[in-house]
Amino acid sequence: MPNEASPAVALHDIHKSFGELQVLRGVSLTAAQGDVISILGSSGSGKSTLLRCINLLESPDEGAISIGGEAIELRRRRAGGLEPARVAQVDRLRSQVAMVFQSFNLWSHLTILENLIEAPVHVQKRRRLECIDEAMGLLEKVGIADKHAHYPAHLSGGQQQRAAIARALAMRPKLMLFDEPTSALDPERVGEVLRVMRALAEEGRTMLVVTHEMSFARQVSNRVVFMHQGQIEADGSPDELFGGEKSERFRRFTAEVAR
Ligand SMILES: Nc1ncnc2c1ncn2[C@@H]1O[C@H](COP(=O)(O)OP(=O)(O)OP(=O)(O)O)[C@@H](O)[C@H]1O
Ligand SMILES: [Mg+2]
Repeated sequence: MPNEASPAVALHDIHKSFGELQVLRGVSLTAAQGDVISILGSSGSGKSTLLRCINLLESPDEGAISIGGEAIELRRRRAGGLEPARVAQVDRLRSQVAMVFQSFNLWSHLTILENLIEAPVHVQKRRRLECIDEAMGLLEKVGIADKHAHYPAHLSGGQQQRAAIARALAMRPKLMLFDEPTSALDPERVGEVLRVMRALAEEGRTMLVVTHEMSFARQVSNRVVFMHQGQIEADGSPDELFGGEKSERFRRFTAEVAR
């Protein structure tokens, strides 16, 4: 049974190909509750695919995944590869895993407040008034309560991303996945989003963050994973990785990003 001591997520030997292209080639990764893990690696190394496997936007071809100590039941497809065996389990686990994307993905026809309460009311079947209350608190927390009645198009990129983070929090997730949350932002908007993410880390939330922000990786995460060609090339504390002892390739990667 899942309990507090179970890992927030455990991946065992995940393989994934798209046609001939092997994108994940045996990835194993365990995140404890409260871990903040930065996932770094060059373009095409498989970072997004890994996150998408965790919340089953993609099914792995091989390997095992558990969320909060509960193994996702996978069965073999006739054509090869795996698929979830029970849709109900996937729906339930997915609602515990929130994903924040580079491109915000807010619903443009809904106000910010409506964006936040949509899934809690319709998917989680929680009481609307309670959801509105909680959503306003979350908007306060990310600093945009005054924008609750606006549509996404009327917000800056940084504000939209903070709204997307608040929307993720409104699901009361056990695990948060971020896929390059600041990459689409103007440079002067990056800091406001990173500050919100740092506050979440300090609250003890479990976060897996694909990022190119080296300051976040160094200062906020307690662990850094470096991917190279579909495998984890190095994995350790920020000091271990940025100290340069773990991987020469990682050292070269950081030098490249800093240029
Ligand atoms: N649905 C798909 N169909 C075919 N190829 C795919 C699919 N998704 C990803 N790929 C390919 O898999 C490889 C890894 O993609 P992925 O998006 O995981 O990399 P990434 O590390 O997130 O890169 P980036 O830093 O550019 O976001 C890429 O070559 C990509 O083109
Ligand atoms: Mg990616």
